[in-house]
Amino acid sequence: MGEIKCVGILTSGGDAPGMNAAIRAITRAAIYNNLSVKGIYRGYRGLITDEIQEFKTENVSNIIQRGGTILKTARCKEFTTPEGRAIAYENMKKEGIDALVIIGGDGSLTGARIFAQEYDVPCIGLPGTIDNDLYGTDTTIGYDTALNTILDAIDKIRDTATSHERLFFVEVMGRDAGFLALNGAIASGSEAAIIPEFSTEVDQLEEFIKNGFRKSKNSSIVLVAESPITGGAMHFAERVKKEYPQYDVRVSILGHLQRGGSPTAHDRIIASRMGAASIDALMEGQRNVMIGINHDEIVYVPFTKAIKNDKPIKPELVNVLRELSI
Ligand code: F6P
Repeated sequence: MGEIKCVGILTSGGDAPGMNAAIRAITRAAIYNNLSVKGIYRGYRGLITDEIQEFKTENVSNIIQRGGTILKTARCKEFTTPEGRAIAYENMKKEGIDALVIIGGDGSLTGARIFAQEYDVPCIGLPGTIDNDLYGTDTTIGYDTALNTILDAIDKIRDTATSHERLFFVEVMGRDAGFLALNGAIASGSEAAIIPEFSTEVDQLEEFIKNGFRKSKNSSIVLVAESPITGGAMHFAERVKKEYPQYDVRVSILGHLQRGGSPTAHDRIIASRMGAASIDALMEGQRNVMIGINHDEIVYVPFTKAIKNDKPIKPELVNVLRELSI
C-alpha cells in the first residue's frame, strides 16, 4: 500500500458508549490532516456489502454525547472466511480506501489482524468494549460508562435488598473478564464479586460466606460476572437455596442496559484522544496496532499483544473489596 489519502472507519462487535465520540475524533482528525474519510456501516459486513459513505465534519456533529454507534455494528461471520475478506478487499479498493480504523473488542481486532496480514492493509484498532479486556490500555472505551450504569442499578437494588433483608446476586456483563464485576462491587459497596479469573482456584461462594456474610449486616449484594466459567448469578442462587436455605435469595441480571447510555466524561475524553491518535499513528506509518492509554500516555499496542486475553486483574482490588465489605 502506498500513500494514505482516504481512511475508512468501522465499529464492530458489541457497541460501547463512546464509540460515537471516537468516530467523531477520527473523522475530524483525518480531515484536519487533509485526509478524506469514509464511514463503513455495520462493521465488517458493510465492507462486504459495500455500505460505505463519505464523511465530512458535519456527519459527526452532535454525536459526542450519544451512546451506541451511528455506524451501526455487527458480528460478521462472513469476514472470518477468506472468501468474505477477498470481497471486503475488492470493495475497499473500489471505494479508494487506503487504511482502516476499527473500533471494537478482541474479536474485531482479531479480524483486523488477519485482514492486515493477508492484504497488507494498514489497520489501526481502538479498544471499544465495555468489558475492559484488552491488554495494554488502562481502560477501554465504554467501560467507565458501563461501570457507572452498574452503580446506578445497584444503588436501587440495595434499597429493596435492605428493606427485605435479602441476599442478591446481580449478574453483570464482561464476557470472560471480571473487571466490571470486581470494580463494580468496590464502587457500589457490594459485599463480594464472583469473577472468572479466580473461579478455578477457589470456591468464591464458600469464601464469601466464610468471610463473614451478615456479620454486621442484614442484607448483601454479590456481583457475579456472566461467564460459563463462573456459571452466572442463577447458578449461585440455586446453590445458596440448597446449601444455605436460611437466606432469602434473589437474582437480578442487568443485561444489555449496561451497553447503552450517554458516555461519561472519561469515555468521551479517551475516545477523543485515541481517535485523534489513530490518525497520527497512520501518518507515522504505524500498522496493526491498537491505540491504548497507559499511565495517561498514548501507546501503540501490537494487535497480537492486545488480544491475547491476558489482561491481569490486580489481586490488590480483591483484597480491597474483602477488607471493606466487613
Ligand atoms: O463484549 C461486549 C458484550 O456486551 C459482553 O459483555 C457480552 O458477553 C456480549 O457482548 C453480549 O453480546 P450480544 O450483544 O451479541 O449478546
